[in-house]
Amino acid sequence: MTIYNFCAGPAMLPAAVMRKAQQEFCDYHGLGVSVMELSHRSADFMAVAEKAEQDLRELMAIPDNYAVLFMHGGARGQFSAIPMNLLGKGKALYLETGQWSVAASEEAQKYGDIDRVDLRCEQTTLDMSRMPDTKGYAYVHYCPNETVDGVALYQLPPTDAPLVADLSSCILGRELDVSRFALLYAGAQKNIGPAGLTLVIVRRDLLGKADPKCPAILNYQLAANNDSMYNTPPTFAWYLAGEVFQWLKQQGGVSAMAARNWAKASKLYDFIDASGFYRNPVAPSHRSEMNVTFQLNDAQLDQRFLAEAEAAGLKALKGHRLVGGMRASIYNAMPEAGIDALVQFMDEFARTYG
Ligand SMILES: Cc1ncc(COP(=O)(O)O)c(C=O)c1O
Repeated sequence: MTIYNFCAGPAMLPAAVMRKAQQEFCDYHGLGVSVMELSHRSADFMAVAEKAEQDLRELMAIPDNYAVLFMHGGARGQFSAIPMNLLGKGKALYLETGQWSVAASEEAQKYGDIDRVDLRCEQTTLDMSRMPDTKGYAYVHYCPNETVDGVALYQLPPTDAPLVADLSSCILGRELDVSRFALLYAGAQKNIGPAGLTLVIVRRDLLGKADPKCPAILNYQLAANNDSMYNTPPTFAWYLAGEVFQWLKQQGGVSAMAARNWAKASKLYDFIDASGFYRNPVAPSHRSEMNVTFQLNDAQLDQRFLAEAEAAGLKALKGHRLVGGMRASIYNAMPEAGIDALVQFMDEFARTYG
């Protein structure tokens, strides 16, 4: 039976990448050791690290005046690092569109003067007319893809202030113009590779402004000065991320992935909307193409749905504990066949219990 893993993160990785990593696992390029046993400062690992950065720069068309940092601590680590590096004595604005942007703004409160604006309307849409005047803010933070809620903000928030975005669940799955941002960041465990690595893409003129109390491992300037090797980086995760970047290039890059992701998500949303058995309450213009949340009209069938899905090889469809219901996370690595299998299962389940 083919297994499809719909986990929100750590998420499935491309099968081709996993097979290559397996082949190289014990003996990397004939060195007789695993890539995870190499010194991060060895020429062999430095080549892995540099190639990964070059490929990412190419995939995202990252301009030269941006540093790419391979850091630790997950996206939550960045919830602290961002205010400590960018806030100075200024004030920041946090846009709240779902669980993760709220978590980011709550963490930022610890470090300085933070304004928050809640753009959510009954969790089904976002009201951009609530955006305040953003003049004078050190930065505006937002999350273009709310992994838990299945809510996306596809257009850029209207602001001239430096824009900071949490791309944890949409990086490399959606096209985006890096030059419009001051800083982008993402935990790796959805569209990049295994957990343990965090990517930060930051405009270089913003470096060197960190609070003196900022922990050294969260300091962007130190990370940039040391090629992300101020301390031992998560080398195996970095290597695997590099393999994912090469795979993405073979797939036609981000624009090709974005088209495929839209096709996959549309197929699933169209089925849900037409079913009469399942529903998705998010306004169509804010539906995420990465995390498709849905509920059964009869919540008493939830456990049965999950058990039968698991038995059919469709894993990890349970919604986040904070919102309940179901969630299918369908990042770059999820093939269209996984969506077909899910739709077929959901259809059969609805016919049986509807
Ligand atoms: C949008 C978003 N931000 C932040 C996080 C937290 O990431 P981490 O567990 O790497 O700290 C997640 C995790 O799922 C996420 O989806």
